[in-house]
Amino acid sequence: MATQTATSIIRVQNVSKVFGSKKKQALAMRRSGRSKAETEEKIKTTVAVMDAEFDVYKGETFVLIGLSGSGKSTLLRCLNGLIKPSEGSVLLENENIGRLDRRRLQQIRRNKIGMVFQNVGLLPNRNVLDNIMFGLEVKGVEKSVREKKAKDALEMVRLNGQAYKRVDELSGGMKQRVGLARALASDQEILLMDEPFSALDPLIRREMQKLFLDIQGEVQKTVIFVTHDLDEALMLGHRAAVMKDGEIVQFGTSEDILGDPANDYVEQLVQGVDYSKIRTAKSAMKPLKAIAYQNESPQVVLRRMKANHLPAIFVMKRDGTLSGLIQLPQVTNLAEKRRQDLSAITPNPCHRVGMETPLREILPLYSDQPVPVAVVDKDHRLKGEITPVSLINSLTKEIQDYERKKSDLTEAVQE
Ligand SMILES: Nc1ncnc2c1ncn2[C@@H]1O[C@H](COP(=O)(O)OP(=O)(O)OP(=O)(O)O)[C@@H](O)[C@H]1O
Ligand SMILES: [Mg+2]
Repeated sequence: MATQTATSIIRVQNVSKVFGSKKKQALAMRRSGRSKAETEEKIKTTVAVMDAEFDVYKGETFVLIGLSGSGKSTLLRCLNGLIKPSEGSVLLENENIGRLDRRRLQQIRRNKIGMVFQNVGLLPNRNVLDNIMFGLEVKGVEKSVREKKAKDALEMVRLNGQAYKRVDELSGGMKQRVGLARALASDQEILLMDEPFSALDPLIRREMQKLFLDIQGEVQKTVIFVTHDLDEALMLGHRAAVMKDGEIVQFGTSEDILGDPANDYVEQLVQGVDYSKIRTAKSAMKPLKAIAYQNESPQVVLRRMKANHLPAIFVMKRDGTLSGLIQLPQVTNLAEKRRQDLSAITPNPCHRVGMETPLREILPLYSDQPVPVAVVDKDHRLKGEITPVSLINSLTKEIQDYERKKSDLTEAVQE
């Protein structure tokens, strides 16, 4: 994970960007506490970004979030040199982006740092494959290599059959996927994404977000993702910076931001969040009190279940992967028959979820039977369980914390 290696790939140092003629005066006004609107009105100069400072680590998805006009796009454009900061510097692996000549900048944009926009900028009368290969063609990559890369990328965005369709024959969501495929096919290690999904309708948008997560899990590029949707930010980002009127008002992981909104602006953003969508299995999971192995004696397992007050127990295969769930009466029955092991019972299949499964998807699993849901890792190893009670506790705790914070905040505002 990015935070473990924590190699900084982009370093933003004290970056400010001012549009207008009275740059110094505008910055001085903002820094002395005047608002963005007031500064604009008085001296017709906009401080779009003020004193931004952060690192982006290799392989992470870093999100910039804020309302319209808060400076997200401006800051993003400073990262690849499309905009030069008025103050401060952006270091891309120790190269100061603002000081590079045009040729070097162009080289960097072709080879290292790509950008995906909201309306993707495809060539409408060329086919899908050509569009994806376009960037590679510009770079002079050999035809067979670029075809292979483009086809791989098409597969990633699940558009294999569409390679020879013209772009203007595709739906909005498909076009978006072509844009994503083009960015992924490129060798660029860093991707800047400016609200890439915001023009899509909610269902397709959700699909694209999932697809992005899947693909990002595989390619592990460094992504800086701009959005004004907090749900999207929390779902996609490892870390996020919340921007308001050009300033970064909070940094953190999704838990940091949801759990402790830095001020009422962040609170406003947080209010719209559906916790059951954001919180994942990991947060509601309990360690297992006991498990059983298929080759164990029913008497021993029965004793273990009784000692732990378990009406059912997870049974493991010899290789340590989960076989299923068996109920107390089944084990009692075998114990009475003095069987050697549990092999006479076929364990009941149980629901399994991954650590990152949203709680919202877990709730309906109890509708057929209220037995624990198994939480497994990528190798199907059992990591814990979620019972209806642990799930509800986890959700109510979140809601209570949230209500408490909200009332603290209301009091603070009233004082
Ligand atoms: N080229 C420009 N000239 C003058 N002002 C600009 C320019 N670009 C941006 N601004 C101003 O800078 C501020 C930040 O704009 P920016 O586009 O970065 O916001 P944003 O957070 O990306 O908003 P949105 O969510 O609407 O895309 C705004 O007040 C905007 O009007
Ligand atoms: Mg923008």
